[in-house]
Amino acid sequence: MKKILLPLAMLGAVAFITPTVSADPASDLKQFQEFFKKKFPTVPFDDFANGLYALPGLEPYRDQWMMYNDFPPLELGLTRGKKMWETPFKNGSNFASCFKNGGRNIAQGYPYWDETTLKIRTAEMDLNDCLKKNGEPPFTGLDQDTKTRVRLAELTAYFYSLSKGQRVNIDISSPGAVKAYEAGKKFWWQRRGQLNFSCANCHMDLAGRNFGGNQPLSAALGHPVGWPAQRLDWARLETIHQRYATCNFQVRAKPDKHGSETYNNLQFYETYMSTGLPLTAPAMRN
Ligand code: HEC
Repeated sequence: MKKILLPLAMLGAVAFITPTVSADPASDLKQFQEFFKKKFPTVPFDDFANGLYALPGLEPYRDQWMMYNDFPPLELGLTRGKKMWETPFKNGSNFASCFKNGGRNIAQGYPYWDETTLKIRTAEMDLNDCLKKNGEPPFTGLDQDTKTRVRLAELTAYFYSLSKGQRVNIDISSPGAVKAYEAGKKFWWQRRGQLNFSCANCHMDLAGRNFGGNQPLSAALGHPVGWPAQRLDWARLETIHQRYATCNFQVRAKPDKHGSETYNNLQFYETYMSTGLPLTAPAMRN
């Protein structure tokens, strides 16, 4: 992580964009996507689903990525996720029974606002609930226990793979959903950490830049659609909240807890901003 701190700290006087103050989600969305279409006019919209590999100037990374996509190392974890999904519970039921349409072609609606609990719910939460409902032990201790978290990431990766290609379409029509969205939006634009950087500073202003020749930065448009993902560096499938925690850590800010309401709302905001993009998860990432 040291490799990114120094070049970024030296940037100092970059003129960063500022958030719109009181727009509604629909006009936020339009503005957000327009920002990237203008910044990267040669990138076809759907290509933003491929993370940093879509961006001009980062072609060498794209070439490398295409090469390891021939035999993606994430297949191993995904196969374990599939097996978990398909293995019946002790009571004879299974994961598919807990989801609409047996879990197929529904992930594009995640995360979603739940009118019963008045909270955002992620796929991880619904998978865990399914275990509990069927008398199976849920995944716990996700912050401390990497092995357990990776197993959940593998299961979630398989869940998302059942919806591959579906276009992000989350429901933001209720007042509760808008409130959660606003909380996520606030977190996204807030500067934090020793570097005093917001998510937007790196993933909007500096998107497409490559620091120190080995730290390319993705555009926020498309952020959630490839996750759970496997970074070459980590060599295992991971959750998007682990990615958020790493990004917080990179600016020397205290990461939030895995599955916290803060990260759920942030994921809700980021996902809404990627409305219309096809799901590509699980994906390989830098
Ligand atoms: C100091 C710069 C920096 C900041 C600030 C930062 N990130 Fe990142 N982020 C990175 C780097 C580096 C990567 C890995 C390369 C890439 O995909 O951009 C990354 C990757 C990601 C990815 C995965 C992208 C993909 O296509 O797989 C997500 C999602 C993400 N960041 C979200 C966030 C969020 C949300 C915030 C604010 C809480 C944030 N980042 C703040 C540097 C940053």
